[in-house]
Amino acid sequence: MKKIKLVSIWNPKGGQGKSMIAINLAAAAMEIGIKPMIVCQDQQGTSMLYYRQGNLNFEVVGQIPEEKPDADIIFFDHQASDWEVPNTNLIVMPLKPARDQYATYIDAFKRASSKGKDILTIVTDGQAHRKSEKTTTDYLEKEGAFVIPSSGVFSRASEEYRTIFDPVLNKAYKIAERRREITKILGAILIDQLVQKEEKKELAHVE
Ligand SMILES: Nc1ncnc2c1ncn2[C@@H]1O[C@H](COP(=O)(O)OP(=O)(O)O)[C@@H](O)[C@H]1O
Ligand SMILES: [Mg+2]
Repeated sequence: MKKIKLVSIWNPKGGQGKSMIAINLAAAAMEIGIKPMIVCQDQQGTSMLYYRQGNLNFEVVGQIPEEKPDADIIFFDHQASDWEVPNTNLIVMPLKPARDQYATYIDAFKRASSKGKDILTIVTDGQAHRKSEKTTTDYLEKEGAFVIPSSGVFSRASEEYRTIFDPVLNKAYKIAERRREITKILGAILIDQLVQKEEKKELAHVE
């Protein structure tokens, strides 16, 4: 029996990009022939809402299926105020780098790493012209975080309940870059994000 990869998308604070990351990672998986499924903890949750609009080419379910699902990778789209460190070994933690959002991330990160979790951080929607946001982003990137800049592509996609991989967005501004960033994150999840972190450290030495 094949092993299904389990990934939690977690940050107890709302509006950090969890659902955005979950649906777009799933869409990126579809692009490379890996079958994803999203478990949205809340029936009214964002990824479930997207699914009901009918534009997604993968399944979103409201709870963990009893039967082993036909999927290669399952993304758990956690809800806001879910303070419990998820059970999966790998946790993807998105955050927006504004100062008042950062404290929740740090607290949650510490609790997850004290439980030995592999954590992949994604800084999203950062405004590089704001000095404090840039400082936070640069620091986390040096620590191995992935960065997705603030981009109108995501606003447009979310208005239409689409992922950025939807062909309708093929001509959107800088769409190829945004898709590449998401696909790279998926790659790190599929290989082992820690390997990438090490490589990044080594590269920093060489430069
Ligand atoms: N890089 C980005 N550029 C623009 N908007 C973004 C970006 N990342 C996230 N967003 C937007 O931020 C909002 C909150 O994201 P969401 O995924 O719903 O957060 P959460 O699931 O953590 O509550 C959404 O409207 C999403 O489209
Ligand atoms: Mg959400």
